[in-house]
Amino acid sequence: MTTPDLFDAAPAGPDTKRVQELHRLLHHHAHRYYVLDAPEIPDAEYDRLFRELQALEAAHPELVTPDSPTQRVGGRPLEQFASVRHAVPMLSIRTETDTEASGAENFDARVRRELALGEGDPPVEYAAEPKFDGLAINLRYEHGVLVLAATRGDGEVGEDVTQNIRTIGQVPLRIEGQVPPVLEVRGEVYLRRDDFEALNEKQRAKGEKTFVNPRNAAAGAVRQLDPAIAAQRPLSFFAYGLGEVTPGIVRYTSHFEWLQALKAWGFPVCEHVTTARGAAELVAYHRRIGALRDSLPYDIDGVVYKVNRLDLQERLGFVTREPRWAVAHKYPAQEMLTTVQAIEVQVGRTGKLTPVAKLAPVFVGGVTVTNATLHNEDEARRKDVRVGDTVIVRRAGDVIPEVVAVLPEKRQPGAEVFTMPHTCPVCGSAAVREEGEADYRCTGGLFCSAQRKQALLHFAQRRAMDIEGLGDKLVDQLVDNEVVKVLPDLYRLGLTALASLERMAEKSAMNVLEALEKSKRTTLPRFLFGLGIRHVGEATAKDLARHFGQLDAIMDASVDTLLQVPDVGPVVAESIHTFFAQPHNREVVEQLRACGVHWPEGAPSPAAQQPLAGKTFVLTGTLPTLGRDEAKALLEAAGAKVAGSVSKKTDYVVAGEEAGSKLDKARELGVPVLDEAAMRALLDA
Ligand code: IVH
Repeated sequence: MTTPDLFDAAPAGPDTKRVQELHRLLHHHAHRYYVLDAPEIPDAEYDRLFRELQALEAAHPELVTPDSPTQRVGGRPLEQFASVRHAVPMLSIRTETDTEASGAENFDARVRRELALGEGDPPVEYAAEPKFDGLAINLRYEHGVLVLAATRGDGEVGEDVTQNIRTIGQVPLRIEGQVPPVLEVRGEVYLRRDDFEALNEKQRAKGEKTFVNPRNAAAGAVRQLDPAIAAQRPLSFFAYGLGEVTPGIVRYTSHFEWLQALKAWGFPVCEHVTTARGAAELVAYHRRIGALRDSLPYDIDGVVYKVNRLDLQERLGFVTREPRWAVAHKYPAQEMLTTVQAIEVQVGRTGKLTPVAKLAPVFVGGVTVTNATLHNEDEARRKDVRVGDTVIVRRAGDVIPEVVAVLPEKRQPGAEVFTMPHTCPVCGSAAVREEGEADYRCTGGLFCSAQRKQALLHFAQRRAMDIEGLGDKLVDQLVDNEVVKVLPDLYRLGLTALASLERMAEKSAMNVLEALEKSKRTTLPRFLFGLGIRHVGEATAKDLARHFGQLDAIMDASVDTLLQVPDVGPVVAESIHTFFAQPHNREVVEQLRACGVHWPEGAPSPAAQQPLAGKTFVLTGTLPTLGRDEAKALLEAAGAKVAGSVSKKTDYVVAGEEAGSKLDKARELGVPVLDEAAMRALLDA
């Protein structure tokens, strides 16, 4: 049967016709936009149609129907949700947590046994789906119109959250075509990760509490008594099953076919839903989706296998509250609870202090985690993590584990607020946090053994000096035993000193010495990068080497000269200049050279010799012989920058005839003004 016309009772005037037309248009475009992610009309056009409908409904309240697109928003805040008894109970599902193949194999073996299938019988066909990490919802459609949306509750009785679910653009308010008079669609309401991040950002901006994860945020939105607030949380929906359905209208024989029908009716069905035959294909599916997990735009916590044929589902039936025909096969949890045993502060190569929570070991995201970063002072304060606290730890993919939140109700009385130390925990030097920076830094430089260790490892790494065999353990010993105090000490190591270190056989000592010897022959970019100047990565080191050709030119360059290097901005230029302004850093370079570290020096590139390097010019008016572009090219070839407006940073203004406000500005600021001849004189100098 088809959807009956809800306007049967209304007089069919021109307005009624237009309202019907607008319903059709708005339903169509909402589906394109929310479900298919492929809008056909601009947002503004949609808004215009929407407002037209709102206006017509305001003029004719009798034309407002429950499936009207205007009914997605609005509705009054509730005192509480009404209870709803589910026509068909919402069951839970048995879970296999085994990360190995056996999860799928056990299930398939059980199904085959219960169906009395023998070795010779063909493999059972399954539907395989992601297990979405949101909350289950039952959508009830009567004659194609959404009349009720309810949470799972205890499986028998849930809550009527229709107002809030209506606000979800992906949930059809009305479905067309051969629809059973009663159709209950079940699925998961969830929040995409990007929507979750954006929501939390907004919460933070408003000074309101943030959500721990997308699932909590989604659950909070669905159970929000004020639908206006729910409407601001951008929820999404995936259909994955059915509740009550009037029999005999449509006759699909498999779960997968049903999902295709739901899709055709406009419900979002996940693109990763598929069919699989036998245990081996389920295992492959589990692995494939597991590999995709971190790149999906939403959280999943496993996959679900369902016997595909509906007659077989019926034969298998239920045990207590779980169907025998379905199982959830989980992935290792990405969030777990554990306790904070200590908060330590680690010192990085550039002196950055990072608070790290030392945790009671916990298996999360597939590995045992004992450390989780607290990032910096502000983050630590925002999360208010204290020693002894029970915390949620998250590890997703290769991302370093982090503390998501504290469970305040589990806090021990007297737990002390964590504060960042104002001295370096390793060397005792002052630690300072510069204005506008998030991090505290140890001011000890290479006096700080933690920084020295990191500096040595940085210097020795493959992409820098490539000293094979100089790893963590050896560096720890060299620094702790004060064998290496400054970088050049590396090249002063002798066999006896090395071989006397713990767990260092003569053979490996020889290898290290050989690697050190080999590393002396290097290139300027590698050497520069290896020095560990803040903000100078491999790419910048290459740019510097290309531009200046020689180390001495770099060491002596002014900030302005450094700014001439492509891709070097003020922060980087300042950092390089400051580094080489320190006598002890120049000393390190000299000693390394004296130890035999060398590289082919290029000729300083013409750019570095340019007479006007670092100078900023502004051109105004018409010059007697040179066109503006010519003048600009000449200046730039000499290393100058040509800017469009005059400021205190302008070195010269070149003015011709009919010079305008730029000339006035130059006079006002006392910037020297040149004519063309004076400019040429500078170029020739
Ligand atoms: S089917 C009788 N399919 O997992 C089978 N459930 O206990 C009923 N879930 O909270 C569930 N993704 O909300 C099914 N593709 C999926 C699912 C899924 C997530 C949730 C569901 C429920 C729990 C099952």
